Amino acid sequence: MLKKIRKFDRKTLLKYLRATGKRQAELFELARQIKEEVFGQRIWFRGIIEFSNICRNDCYYCGIRRSNAKQMRFQMSLKEIDDCLKFIKSADYGSVVFQSGELTTRTFKNQLLEIVKLTHKKYPNLGITVSCGEQDFAYLKKLKAAGASRYLLRIETSSRKLYKKLHPREMSWRKRFECLKNLQKLSYQVGTGVMVGLPGQTIEDLISDLKFFVDNKFDMFGIGPYVIHKDTPLGRDPKIQKWWQKNKEKNFSIFLNFLAILRVLLPNVNIAAATACDVFDPLGRIKVLRIAGNVIMPSVTPKDYRDKYLLYENKPNIDEGADKSFEHISNKIIQAGLKPIFGEQGNSPFYYQRIYG
Ligand code: 5AD
Repeated sequence: MLKKIRKFDRKTLLKYLRATGKRQAELFELARQIKEEVFGQRIWFRGIIEFSNICRNDCYYCGIRRSNAKQMRFQMSLKEIDDCLKFIKSADYGSVVFQSGELTTRTFKNQLLEIVKLTHKKYPNLGITVSCGEQDFAYLKKLKAAGASRYLLRIETSSRKLYKKLHPREMSWRKRFECLKNLQKLSYQVGTGVMVGLPGQTIEDLISDLKFFVDNKFDMFGIGPYVIHKDTPLGRDPKIQKWWQKNKEKNFSIFLNFLAILRVLLPNVNIAAATACDVFDPLGRIKVLRIAGNVIMPSVTPKDYRDKYLLYENKPNIDEGADKSFEHISNKIIQAGLKPIFGEQGNSPFYYQRIYG
């Protein structure tokens, strides 16, 4: 199985993406062993601050798309962000992730730069990840100089055809890909990912996604299951609603297989367990961490803002604060026989291999 997967044998990949029962258990066990060889039971923690939900994009699947007038918008002040950072330090998370909707206005860019500068100055040992959409080369360079060392930008799908169906015309797959390439040129640790279980996505598309990940040498992955949101073009479509209800369990199972195969293909990359997993199963993220994931990003976003950062429906834990999120997830991780790791930035071993050989 291992050799065939690594050779990218299409028949084998199809078989394991669809696997259930005993075959699925075998795949999970292989992925688990491979992960354990590199990371042991260790799970790195990063605190994620979702500091703004204002977005210039209009993706057909996302709840914070600009056309969703029902969504109240917010932007946290520097002081509020600083309070989150204090929590991150007190909980001894080794890294912070700044995530927001995508904006390219001068005001936003300056604010984000200030946030990164302040963080780096106050907490020089904290790993800084940015996840704020497509930005231009010169600006990404500035952010890097200010102290950001990692960037997350999901390609959403490697299929240009599917990308077109999920986004308005002004959004371009190629531009997104170029941004990922620019991040690599600037020596960021670069994370990408897709959603699994998108309407119109085929198993062949998922195989292409895996190929895309391997060929382009990404260091980190944030991959999540697609979850419907009623105030979006996809979520409003009755056919998609029906399809989603009928297929969600199956799609989540394919999603787990996808991550397990990714871990087999790329043993030493960082793979985060996405919050969206918990929509399907209260232990969704834990399942991912058992099989393939080695990174968890508990939200440190203040309670008041959590119900406004809804990319999808039924987002879990929106009624708890940073302290509860921390407590709950670290307990679950320990119960699963895994080991939460604090005080370490948790850089991707793949990155060091890529940069230093
Ligand atoms: N379901 C799951 N994930 C979503 N995202 C946006 N909308 C949804 C949804 N409905 C993901 C996108 C984006 C990331 C921040 O959230 O992949 O890159």
